[in-house]
Amino acid sequence: MALIQETDYGTPFRIIDTTVTLEIDGRPVTVPAGTSIMRAAVGLGIQVPKLCATDSVEPFGSCRLCLVEIDGRRGTPASCTTPAEAGMKVRTSSPKLSRMRRGVMELYISDHPLDCLTCAANGNCELQDMAGVVGLREVRYGYEGANHLKSEKDQSNPYFTFDASKCIVCSRCVRACEEVQGTFALTIQGRGFASVVSAGGKNFLESECVSCGACVQACPTATLMEKSVIEKGQGEHSVITTCAYCGVGCTFKAEMQGNEVVRMLPYKDGMANHGHSCVKGRFSWGYATHPDRILKPMIRAKITDPWREVTWEEAIGHAASEFQRIQAEYGRDSIGGITSSRCTDEETYLVQKMIRAAFGNNNVDTCARVCHSPTGYGLKTTLGTSAGTQHFDSVEQADVIMVIGANPTDAHPVFASHMKRRLREGARLIVVDPRRTDLVRTPHVKADYHLPLRPGTNVAVINAMAHVVVTEGLVDEPYVKERCDMAAFDGWRKFVAEERNSPEAVEEITGVPAGDLRAAARLYATGGNAAIYYGLGVTEHSQGSTMVMGMANLAMATGNIGKLGAGISPLRGQNNVQGSCDMGSFPHEFSGYRHVSDDATRHLFEAAWQVPLQGDPGLRISNMIDAAIDGTFKGMYIQGEDIVQSDPNTKHLTKGMAAMECVVVQDLFLNETASYAHVFLPGSSFLEKDGTFINAERRIGRVRKAIPPKAGLADWEITMKLSEALGYPMPYKHPSEIMDEIARLTPTFAGVSYELLDRVGSVQWPCNEKAPLGTPVMHIGGFVRGKGRFMITEFIPTDERTTDRFPLVLTTGRILSQYNVGAQTRRTENNVWHHEDVLEIHPFDAENRGINENDLVALTSREGEITLHARISERMQPGVVYTTFHHAITGANVVTTEFSDWATGCPEYKVTAVQVRPTKKLSEWQQHYRETRRRTTQIMSETGAGD
Ligand code: SF4
Ligand code: SF4
Ligand code: SF4
Ligand code: FES
Repeated sequence: MALIQETDYGTPFRIIDTTVTLEIDGRPVTVPAGTSIMRAAVGLGIQVPKLCATDSVEPFGSCRLCLVEIDGRRGTPASCTTPAEAGMKVRTSSPKLSRMRRGVMELYISDHPLDCLTCAANGNCELQDMAGVVGLREVRYGYEGANHLKSEKDQSNPYFTFDASKCIVCSRCVRACEEVQGTFALTIQGRGFASVVSAGGKNFLESECVSCGACVQACPTATLMEKSVIEKGQGEHSVITTCAYCGVGCTFKAEMQGNEVVRMLPYKDGMANHGHSCVKGRFSWGYATHPDRILKPMIRAKITDPWREVTWEEAIGHAASEFQRIQAEYGRDSIGGITSSRCTDEETYLVQKMIRAAFGNNNVDTCARVCHSPTGYGLKTTLGTSAGTQHFDSVEQADVIMVIGANPTDAHPVFASHMKRRLREGARLIVVDPRRTDLVRTPHVKADYHLPLRPGTNVAVINAMAHVVVTEGLVDEPYVKERCDMAAFDGWRKFVAEERNSPEAVEEITGVPAGDLRAAARLYATGGNAAIYYGLGVTEHSQGSTMVMGMANLAMATGNIGKLGAGISPLRGQNNVQGSCDMGSFPHEFSGYRHVSDDATRHLFEAAWQVPLQGDPGLRISNMIDAAIDGTFKGMYIQGEDIVQSDPNTKHLTKGMAAMECVVVQDLFLNETASYAHVFLPGSSFLEKDGTFINAERRIGRVRKAIPPKAGLADWEITMKLSEALGYPMPYKHPSEIMDEIARLTPTFAGVSYELLDRVGSVQWPCNEKAPLGTPVMHIGGFVRGKGRFMITEFIPTDERTTDRFPLVLTTGRILSQYNVGAQTRRTENNVWHHEDVLEIHPFDAENRGINENDLVALTSREGEITLHARISERMQPGVVYTTFHHAITGANVVTTEFSDWATGCPEYKVTAVQVRPTKKLSEWQQHYRETRRRTTQIMSETGAGD
């Protein structure tokens, strides 16, 4: 007797405790109540023919192919929409059913081109398969007069085509766009034979479509088809791996022909994405083979010299001897390095190991410094762990979702779809953001409250929410008493209850109407399971760490940590920013967030690495740059990180870079930072190596090598060679051995191995004896630190003030189609959606300055000036302007300030006082940038680099 677990798309944890037993084709089966007959049959290994049904969407019952017979019932019901009932006796095949199914197929085929042999889907087409399954041999209705055969092909989307002549109007695409993606871009227009799929009456490119590919995946025919498959044919073999873009960490099946990727298919068993994807992971992988990639190591004596291609041995030898010369001349601490959140855990672990063991200092840092370091600090201080508390699926149980300083539909799209599904089911939504993001109002989702705060006032808002909770008796007293440090709680309660923290008192500072803030706080505290999701709009502030602690206070006070549907989840940016932090990329911590001054931990690493280690924290990125300007820091190894484009105050940064004597850049492309490098080591893309990434929910997922490294070495092998040349060999034969070492030395990873990951797919740390299959939700039953610690979160306005000279506030963010500094996505077709960064400005501010749509404007701060085109938008509130930072020429960080989070030094990217005026010429910085790029291109063509 079989028992089937309900596994509808996106509801993998639905618990159904009532079961029914029925008989299908004479065999008994027990399934959860509500399961369709079709799914029940699958449990017995019986595949009922189908076309309009597919796992990823709810059944629809339109094709009539899945008919069955049920004893005692008239007619032939569709098995995909008929629920199994206790005692039912079902037949899935009979001469009558076969006849009916052939008739249905005949109708479909009569309106379908018969070009199977030349069709790109040949051999991988459900229509073709089903015609075979039902035994269709002839079509009596003739092919003339068909309704779709002459339809035009829509090729507007850069990645897939829509060939309506092949459409059987099964509606799977429409339902995928609605149910899986939540965009509602498609409809069925017309009725009966005249019905067609429509992207809102436009072509796909001009429609609301966000190119996620869910419809392409759902289509059972070649109607919606990847252009790469049409061009190259279908894959011959496949490799399961993890997306290298954002912190959602979607699993993909890379379909390959030899060493060429033909398609990236989101993997159904991927636990972060459950078979969904966004445009970047699904389609934007062309950068990996872009001609701009540098495939030969290069060196040069001065940064004004042309590059010279050399062998790996010469490049590595040169870098090592330069680092040794510098240390001999300027001292042990005169060099350092940066690990990459684009690289694998194993690779970042090796870089920090090399710096601590071979450089002999702790001068290692990572890009998390400029994004989520306050998350680590704030959550560790209050709860005891430097990471989010929940797995993504937890959102399925959330009753209230509060999104603060995050724009998931653009930056974390697959999780946004998951969240929107829960919102369509009825969860309530609070958005705290200066800008009216898509989530505030999107098809079938409307925020209950949008709190459009002034940039820089997060802490005042969270304190005011806490004020409401405390003064209106909404604290979960038993929870706090049982789990939290009561002395700290009493102090905090007194602090937030002060009148100066009330919504009314802070309204003028925050710009948020007190009534809305009060109502939102009440909803959060009393609406059931309440979950907080947040992004860089929280962390990239001078009070980033304070705000993280403020959210933890609020969640603890209302009992919203340590259970499904609640918690605090940072939506982490880069694919492996969680992993790079976990692996010990900060100057003060070994892997697993253990301080270098802790003797026991340090001795553990000294014993394992067979070398004495320093007990004092090393330099952060900003300290390294300051020291370079001061003349005491002379060499840097940068693994896959474009700090010149991504870090604040470009002028200061480039001054420091130019002052160094040996900068080694390891990357796919000659990025902006490489302009200041003396050695360039060609890196490897995620397709070219084995390893692991850790996503925003602490999930460790495998990255699997699909092709050999194009430049000959994977990143982990390059670091090994450099370390060896420095006299500290690290002889690993495979990244799995590096993970074994991480597991031996890091208690939260003690149970992790490639064998486990290959067996179960992925696990969330902590993964050890106590939790052999990982920990989806943390702090159940008690906090990791023991008692939860409430922290006083005094609001202190940033020192970056608006004045008559700089009256506007600039804040920054991301867009769906581009990624971060754009190194990857700018080298794909994604540029059709976003080919330049623009400045969003409210109509009121634009009119005051005589600015029209698309005018070139100068954006000036105390630090510098850039120029970009204006977009007039009511998404902004008056007084606030916004831009993205995906294009290097924009130089957004030329204008950002040096202010940073008090605890972690995370730059305050989200608040810069600026003025905007119309202009006719490019800024000085942009002219300089153009000239630098021109020179780089010239040098590349002279040396043949990148060919
Ligand atoms: S495009 Fe594909 S999925 Fe959509 S209705 Fe046509 S055949 Fe079905
Ligand atoms: S690609 Fe995604 S957004 Fe576009 S129509 Fe298909 S499902 Fe909808
Ligand atoms: S949501 Fe993030 S991880 Fe998933 S496919 Fe898109 S970019 Fe990749
Ligand atoms: S698969 Fe059931 S009606 Fe189409």
